[in-house]
Amino acid sequence: MSKIFKVNPINIPLNGSIEIPSDKSISHRAAMIGALTNHTVQISNYSQGADCKSTLKILQSLGVEIEYKSENTVFLNAQNGLKESKNIMNMGNSGTTTRFMTGILAGQNFYSVIAGDESLTKRPMARVIKPLKLMGAQIWARDSDTKLPISVKGSELNAISYQSPIASAQVKSALLLAGLFANGETVIEEPFKSRDHTERILSYLDANIKINNNIVSIEKSALAPKPISVPGDISSAAFFMVAASVIKDSDIILKNVGLNSTRIGIIDVLKQMGADITILDNKFECGEEVGDIQVKYANLKGVKITQDLIPSIIDEIPIIAVAATQAEGATIIEGAEDLRYKESDRIAAICSGLVKMGVELEEKPDGFIVQGANKLKGDCTLETYHDHRIAMSAYIAGLLANKPIGINGFEWVNISFPEFLDKFEQLTN
Ligand code: S3P
Repeated sequence: MSKIFKVNPINIPLNGSIEIPSDKSISHRAAMIGALTNHTVQISNYSQGADCKSTLKILQSLGVEIEYKSENTVFLNAQNGLKESKNIMNMGNSGTTTRFMTGILAGQNFYSVIAGDESLTKRPMARVIKPLKLMGAQIWARDSDTKLPISVKGSELNAISYQSPIASAQVKSALLLAGLFANGETVIEEPFKSRDHTERILSYLDANIKINNNIVSIEKSALAPKPISVPGDISSAAFFMVAASVIKDSDIILKNVGLNSTRIGIIDVLKQMGADITILDNKFECGEEVGDIQVKYANLKGVKITQDLIPSIIDEIPIIAVAATQAEGATIIEGAEDLRYKESDRIAAICSGLVKMGVELEEKPDGFIVQGANKLKGDCTLETYHDHRIAMSAYIAGLLANKPIGINGFEWVNISFPEFLDKFEQLTN
């Protein structure tokens, strides 16, 4: 049982500038795709979060040599290609590692078994297993091929054209990575465009990939072993963007943040709510847009968010809900049912936490309606449900409460953002 972490209400503005740590999504891709170059690849600014460490551990067990040149510069030596792991590979809490690796392992010439922690073991895997089987993959999984553990007997794969029923970058990426080993051209179409880091990294490494809005296709490719530099994570920056927007007199700069157009929904939504956000400087690095973001305190108003926007804010909805409590009027989120299948059931987690803090809200199967301009009540303990983003959102909610709160399981922040509290402290000193 973890200790209860106490958060005190804040009574000073956030000020100053901080460097935002490495993007989790891009770090995962840099390592897994880098390992498919059959060469040595340098990755700078690799994420220090536990999930990205799980990815490196898995690659190591598949015979890739990993060497840290500094705290966050990693060298992968994949000259000998991937080799069979002698043991079950534990993916920890990482859905991205699990789904991507299922695609990669399906096309290898060896046998693999993968498992995960309690939360990952509950998450749906049929979304990748089903289409991979259509490509000829030999995969078995618990609970009628829907849950971990998964075993994969690598085999010859054939390309398919697949219309994904959901806009999921993990599904798209698993199929693109399997497509690198398949005969023919694999085509994936999504209902709305999900984050496109996989496509960008594959293009940067000269893969045979074609991108046409929501349709991506790939063929067998020799990948170029170019160095990869990872920008800061906009999903981590989001917590500070919301905090600075709602804490009076705040004025902060978040440096080196990835500004990929499929990830900046949080900026669009906060701006629609009336936030004062300015992009100060931007450039392209390894196919990704990167820049600094200035955020100043502003009066927020409620907003309606519909399904088309959800993929670009999928990981930011918990912190948007906290922003909504401070806004004038109602904030409506719909079309976000997939949030129920993340590290926790995030719709239930958000709603139960905010209700404990006295917020008036209505939970829906695919979202919620939060009534804003609430004074948050303290004197309660919020649960994190083994979910890093719920833990960090609870922390920001705690700062806005009238009395201290407790957070049970705050240590889950380490999954994506072990530097979270240090960064916060830098803005309050
Ligand atoms: C991710 C994609 C999203 C997101 C997850 C990371 C990725 O999941 O929620 O945290 O790195 O591709 P889905 O693609 O399943 O929506």
